[in-house]
Parts: sequence; C-alpha cells; structure tokens
Amino acid sequence: MEKKDKWVIGNWKLQGSHAFLQSYLNEFVSAAQASVDRLEQERIGLALCPPACYLRDAVKLMAQLPSPWASRFLVGAQNIAQHASGAYTGELAADMVSDCGAALTLIGHSERRQVFGETDVQVCAKVRQALDADITPVLCVGETLVEREADQTLEVIGRQLGEACANLSSDQWSRLVVAYEPVWAIGTGRTATPDQAQTVHAFIRARCEQMQASGAPGYVPLLYGGSVKAENAKALMSEPDVDGVLVGGASLKPAEFAQILGAA
Ligand code: PGA
Repeated sequence: MEKKDKWVIGNWKLQGSHAFLQSYLNEFVSAAQASVDRLEQERIGLALCPPACYLRDAVKLMAQLPSPWASRFLVGAQNIAQHASGAYTGELAADMVSDCGAALTLIGHSERRQVFGETDVQVCAKVRQALDADITPVLCVGETLVEREADQTLEVIGRQLGEACANLSSDQWSRLVVAYEPVWAIGTGRTATPDQAQTVHAFIRARCEQMQASGAPGYVPLLYGGSVKAENAKALMSEPDVDGVLVGGASLKPAEFAQILGAA
C-alpha cells in the first residue's frame, strides 16, 4: 500500500448491517464533500473496519462510490487469526481477509486483549500473518487506568511493542502502523489530552526507531484512539507525533466521521 501522511480509520466493532453500510456510505460521501480536494491531493489513508462478514460488501459498495471515494476508501478487518490455516473453528486467516479485499487489519485491540485474553505472543504472530498476507497491520497498544496510575504507561507500551515487533525486517517495519489506545479512554468519553497522547507517541516513535536494527529507520505512522470525536480530533492530530486517529463510536455516525476526516 502506498505511504499515507495522515490516517483516519473507523472501527465499527460488533455493530452495523448491510443496510446500515449502504446508507452510511451515501451519507458519509455527501457530508464529506469539503474533503474531496484534499483527498485527491494528499496521501490520506481513510478506512473503515466493519465486522468481518461485511468486508466484501464494504469493498463492493465503496467501489461504486463516485471518484475519488471509490479509489480512496480502504476496508480493514478488526482481527485476524494467528494461524494461516488449519483446524481453528471460527477463525479468519489474514489471506482470507485479504481475499475479501481488505487492505489492513487491526491487531491486538484492547478489547481482544482484555475480553478475549489475547496475549503479546498471539499479537506478535498476528502481526506476522498480516505482513505475510500483504495487508497492513495496525498494531494497537495501550495501558489500563491502573497501569497509568501506577506510572507504568511507558513500561507497558514498551513491552507490548517489543513483543509484537521483535525481529521485524526493515521492509516489515515500513509496512507497519501503530495505534496508541489508552484502555481508559476507549468508549468512556474520556480522551487523552493532546499532551498525554503526544508524550506516549514520542516514546513509541523513539522505541520504533531504536528497534529497527540497521540503516535509516522507516517511518511508522502512529495513530491515537480512545473517544476521538469531531470536537477533539483536530487538537489531537495537531501534535507532531500523532499521524492520525482510530475512531470507534464516532465512526458509526457518518456526518461526524466526515468531520473527523476534515480535521485530518
Ligand atoms: P472509541 O473506540 O472511539 O469508541 O473510544 C476506539 C477504539 O476502540 O478503537
């Protein structure tokens, strides 16, 4: 996938339907008219991650949108399996998700880690699966409130990054996107301040550079996620190390998601 300068990714989680997807895209396109020129001139990565059963639908419906939307809207999965194939009932392989037309996938979202018990080892395997299938892994990292209050934020993020990205080649690093999503800010209405986000992003930036063994380090886009809304998106994305946003709840409202794109 070509390099993007800014990213706006919507994560629908366990919400949506075929009918919703259809009306959503039409409403989004009319609400986002003001962003058309910028979308044509700048490298903005715009993506939606609907539930996996709608990936193919989303790809087809997006292809029918007027220009430039048809070519600029990307589809992403919310999760992939840690295995390529085999006896793993209920799982979806990275290749399958790619076969449905997805260009990227979230990996290690805090809901996967906390609700489904996903470990750093599994997250690491999933990052490799995505890279092998040639889809962009959007690796999610973030601390809980308890960890933040115990002053362990950077330690936790450092561990999550270290485990997920150990021994990646420079080509693999160049295809990775990282999303910082403080768990205490997800779905709570409590957003990290731009300052708090920038502090952690600067740490992630430095750690990513440090982990890239040789040569000039590749640039890893860093997204912020956690109660991003139309009213706070601009301030967050004005921080030097915030390259975009990963939006949950507000991405279900087409007009608001269009405003967030406008803020990018
Ligand atoms: P939220 O979710 O925007 O609803 O807080 C963000 C996410 O989980 O990616």
